[in-house]
Formats: sequence, structure tokens, C-alpha cells
Amino acid sequence: MSNVRPENMKRIVSEELAKEFIDEQVSAIKKQVGDGKVLLALSGGVDSSVCAALLIKAIGRNLVCVHVNHGLLRKGEPEQVIEVFGKQMKANLVYVDAAERFLKKLEGVADPETKRKVIGAEFIRVFEEEARKLEGIGFLAQGTIYPDILESEKGVKAHHNVGGLPEDLKFELVEPVKLLYKDEVRVVGKALGLPDEMVYRQPFPGPGLGVRCLGAITRDRLEAVRESDAILREEFAKNGLQGKVWQYFTIVPDVRSTGITDGKRTYAYPVIIRAVNTRDAISATIEEIPYGLLKKIVARITSEVANVNRVVYDLTPKPSGTIEWE
Ligand code: XMP
Repeated sequence: MSNVRPENMKRIVSEELAKEFIDEQVSAIKKQVGDGKVLLALSGGVDSSVCAALLIKAIGRNLVCVHVNHGLLRKGEPEQVIEVFGKQMKANLVYVDAAERFLKKLEGVADPETKRKVIGAEFIRVFEEEARKLEGIGFLAQGTIYPDILESEKGVKAHHNVGGLPEDLKFELVEPVKLLYKDEVRVVGKALGLPDEMVYRQPFPGPGLGVRCLGAITRDRLEAVRESDAILREEFAKNGLQGKVWQYFTIVPDVRSTGITDGKRTYAYPVIIRAVNTRDAISATIEEIPYGLLKKIVARITSEVANVNRVVYDLTPKPSGTIEWE
């Protein structure tokens, strides 16, 4: 398949068109791969999930999905991958719990870009180790989408999701959704029967909660990020904001402040809430969250999350702030 989207290619806007696309891709994958085995790094994001579901439909257990839990995922994410792919779709799923390994590597690493590099390099190392344990793999599937191709052509970023694998692990690429835009990937995901939480998932950075637990990651602050993020997501979903606000999450800085709980002095971390809307992530505006909902989220976070005594709402658009804090 060429890397250029033909001008006459229909935009996939309906279930009917999605089904046509799925049938075409299933045949194309069967033709490309035959009886070969395919490896896929399954993050649980929309693109890799849709890619996995297409390949499972085409070649079943000849697709080996590797899900690396780097310990920086959101609450419930690894469990959801195991439930949807391992149990419901009966995929050939290798689950790697590498949380301790990543946290060890990240000990004392405070600089954001160094953190990203450590997480990226360790991810490739873990994935490579798993790939070497498997036999007879000839192909690597990737959930590359059309904007990734356009960006890599412009030199903005390399599109390979698992770039950097060693030379002797040479695989032929399988990229079934590479000519689709994000909204089309979602329509295809829906038609493949993936759950809404996966199909309409907000963007989540590769280094995960690692760049939201500011400075050197500590376990207490990482748990505070994970738990407060889960409360924020739950409340946004209950109040109809899921799928309407582009990205929303919490951040925990490496700073403490004085507070009071049940008449006793506390000295604990603040949680920062960020909720933004954007088209392209290059600039972003602040979402006007109903005040009552914000107050409810503050009450829940301060009473349910350990080591937290204060919540603030970041009102900074991009620019001057970036969407993430690191
Ligand atoms: P910023 O913070 O640059 O974020 O305004 C723009 C978008 O990119 C996401 N982001 C990342 N995604 N790896 C990723 O895969 C990263 O290192 C990374 N940093 C930021 C961010 O979540 C937002 O959607």
C-alpha cells in the first residue's frame, strides 16, 4: 500500500463504509502475511487497538500483541486491555508488568526530556526482549495513521511507534490504518466492536503519567496523579463531558503546602487540574467547567486521595503554557 492517500478515497463516515474498509483490509492483511506471524505493541490507545482488532479478524492468533505496562498508565488501563483483547477477542496477548523496572530506571531523574528518553529507551528494551522470546515472527504491525505520515514527511516527527529496534530484528511492516484520519479510525473501531472508552479515548502521551508527576517521580505522588486522574475522568464522564473536552487530566508537582483536616495540620501535595480544547494541539483554550462540578471534584480529590490537601485549576491557555506541564 502506498503512503499517499488517493484523492478519490472516500472518507469513512458511516458504519457501512467502515465495514467495506474492514473487509478490504482483512483481505489485504491475509494476502500480505499469509501464514506468517505478526507482532504488535498494544498500548490500548485508539490506533494500536483498532490495528490489533483488524489483525485479529484477519489472522487470529497469528497476531501476537505485547502490552507493556510501564507503571505510568492510568488507573484501569492494563486491566481493560486484558479484558477486551485477552478475554473478549481471545487474542494472543503477552502482558508484561514492567512497572518496577521503569520506576527503578527513573529514580532521581528530574529533567522532563531525560525522563522521556529513559522511558522511551526502556520501552524499546522491554519490547525487544519480548520479541526475542517469540519464534518465527516476520512482521511488525503498527497503528500508524495518516497524520503521522504527513508529519514524518514534513520532518516534524518520526512516525514509527516502535522505532529503534535493533537491526537484527528486521520485520516487514503491516500498517492497515495508515491512510486514515483519526475520526475515521474511530468509526472503524466502533464497527469492529471496540468499547466506547477505547474508541473515544482522549490522547495520552507515550511517557504517560511520568510527565504529570513533576520532577523526580516518587511512588506517593505517582499514586496521587493516578487516583486524582481517575476521579476527574469519572466525574467528567458522569457529567457528559467525555468526548466533548479534548484532553483533561491532573498533575502533581513536587511541592507541599500547609492544610488542615479534622482539626489537624497537614503538609501535603496539591493536585492541578487541566482541561483544554484544541484542534491540533498546537494551541489550546481552557474549557469552562461548571463551577459546581469543579467543587465536587475538589471535594472528592481532597477526601479520597492520599497525601493531597489542595486542588487548583490551571487557567492558562497554550501559549503561554503547553498542554502538559513537562
Ligand atoms: P504539549 O504539552 O506539547 O502537548 O502542548 C501537545 C499534545 O502532545 C501530547 N504529548 C506527548 N505525546 N509523547 C507523546 O506521545 C510525549 O512525550 C508527549 N508530550 C506531550 C500531549 O498530551 C498533548 O496531547
